[in-house]
Amino acid sequence: SAATPTAASRYAFDELASGIDETHHVARGYDADVLLRWGDPIFADAPDFDVMNQSAEAQLQQFGYNNDYVGFLPLNAEGTRGLLCVNHEYTNEEVMFPNLGRQDKAEFAGMTRELVEIEMAAHGGSVVEVARGSDGKWSVVRGGALNRRISPLTTAMVLDGPAAGHPRMQTSADPSGFEVIGTLNNCAGGMTPWGTWLMAEENFHGYFWTDRLDFDGEPDLSGQPEAAQMARYGVPGMWYAWGRHHSRFNIDENPNEANRFGWVVEVDPMDPQSKPVKHTALGRFAHEGAETTLSKDGRLVIYMGDDARFEYLYKYVSRGAVSEDRAANAQLLSDGTLYAARFEADGTCRWLPLVHGQGPLTAENGFASQADVLIGARLAADALGATPMDRPEDASPRGDGTAYVMLTNNSRRKASQTDAANPRPESRFGHIIEIKEDGGDHAAASGQWSILVKCGDPGIAEVGAEWHPDTSKHGWFGSPDNSAMDADGRLWVATDQGSNWGRTGKSDGLYGVETGGALRGHSKLFFRCPAGAELCGPYFTPDGETLFLAVQHPGTDGTKDLQGFGRASTFEDPATRWPDFDPQMPPRPSVVVVTRQGGGKIAS
Ligand code: FEO
Ligand code: CA
Ligand code: CA
Ligand code: CA
Repeated sequence: SAATPTAASRYAFDELASGIDETHHVARGYDADVLLRWGDPIFADAPDFDVMNQSAEAQLQQFGYNNDYVGFLPLNAEGTRGLLCVNHEYTNEEVMFPNLGRQDKAEFAGMTRELVEIEMAAHGGSVVEVARGSDGKWSVVRGGALNRRISPLTTAMVLDGPAAGHPRMQTSADPSGFEVIGTLNNCAGGMTPWGTWLMAEENFHGYFWTDRLDFDGEPDLSGQPEAAQMARYGVPGMWYAWGRHHSRFNIDENPNEANRFGWVVEVDPMDPQSKPVKHTALGRFAHEGAETTLSKDGRLVIYMGDDARFEYLYKYVSRGAVSEDRAANAQLLSDGTLYAARFEADGTCRWLPLVHGQGPLTAENGFASQADVLIGARLAADALGATPMDRPEDASPRGDGTAYVMLTNNSRRKASQTDAANPRPESRFGHIIEIKEDGGDHAAASGQWSILVKCGDPGIAEVGAEWHPDTSKHGWFGSPDNSAMDADGRLWVATDQGSNWGRTGKSDGLYGVETGGALRGHSKLFFRCPAGAELCGPYFTPDGETLFLAVQHPGTDGTKDLQGFGRASTFEDPATRWPDFDPQMPPRPSVVVVTRQGGGKIAS
């Protein structure tokens, strides 16, 4: 049983027992209800989901696949109506479609143009109105006037900022370099203070294709003018067969299309006709998320991880301040400064500006303009000497000038590559860094960093985990990924262990992690996923009474290390049929809504 904490926990709930089974669990006294599933119709005239007769046309009217970021925009003062803004990060074709099995990624034998277009329709995002009834339960407003699907198949977007229109952004379909169709691999995100939704484009490289392979079957980039940049960004990743059927994803024919992805996209959920905007000022990399906050003088600040091994943490600071003028705020993501973080051994975090002409960011070093700096942000951050991190995922700022950075893991870091901020070789379980910006100001050029927790099982010495000693066997975790700050400034951390979950014996879940006082570094389990899922979201409503969670890819993270639930799913043979438990239905990624039985604020 759990140790009795010596100080009062700020998270007032009875800890959930960790474990793995086919369904989800929440702490006693709470309800965790499935709200929105892949395929649920969101428009009045949308067809009901028919898993055996899928089409792109139907999918474009239904909730998409692999829900990741969830934001909530209240539509009334009471907060009982609002818009959910949900990213659909990627697709698992072996679980979506019958008779495919696990695709040989080099061949994609079964991926016809029809299936590829269903996948494309299942990517992107959804805006869905939700309402809370007098019984305290949330439901979907099917046909809500603002409901919207965004996809890489259909949704035209504007490019803006210093890289928009640059020759490297021009393609045969868009000679202007100012318009692009769709968004890819939208992982976490953020909501701005003026109510727009930020969708972060993460692993865009995986969607690009080439027919030119070398003798090892790897992409042959010889002859590509941007071969070095492509290699640095992993383009083409060839994770999906889209480039076989849509030539814009084939770099042999359209090498610049890949430069038009890897950005942060701003969507106005209040106007379903509005064109989403890709803001190049925020740099091009595998954007995990885009959580916003304000500097002391009211400018917008966004913390952003680049989720790949040895990549960097970034922060964006707008030039102007957030105002009551919503139209003026639209410029804040177009004009500002992007920084990359250097974590010094003495505990200083230095923010290095990615500004053309400053320091090494000059034409002699391959940066002829600010567009080059931003399109190749990773290379610019290399030149500046930013600190290569253990996969920076979400970062959650708090109003007091503090931010928490999730570093999920990095099995490839050698002992010779460790440093103060990434101290563990072959880090399988990750850690969380706290940054206290100088003067408590999120716009500061430097701050002080420290490690909040080193994740993994504290009972196994060689893991090297560090938690508050009162953390129970249920409370520790591995691989922090998404995070949220609630209205009371409490940090919540969601995990994505990938194939590592067999090493912990725990499914992914949500934890309350103490950041201050005598219990700093103490963690408590609140919710856990069905087998093979990772937990995304999380998002608290402003009143703290509702928590939205995104259960992503149920059943698909397999591992050889564990019996029972340790196999990855196919359509015909899923490890779980969550959440329907219908023998005709594969597992479905779904948004879950958590409320307190009898009402009231969560964990208070
Ligand atoms: Fe899409 Fe880094 O998680
Ligand atoms: Ca994910
Ligand atoms: Ca993530
Ligand atoms: Ca992850």
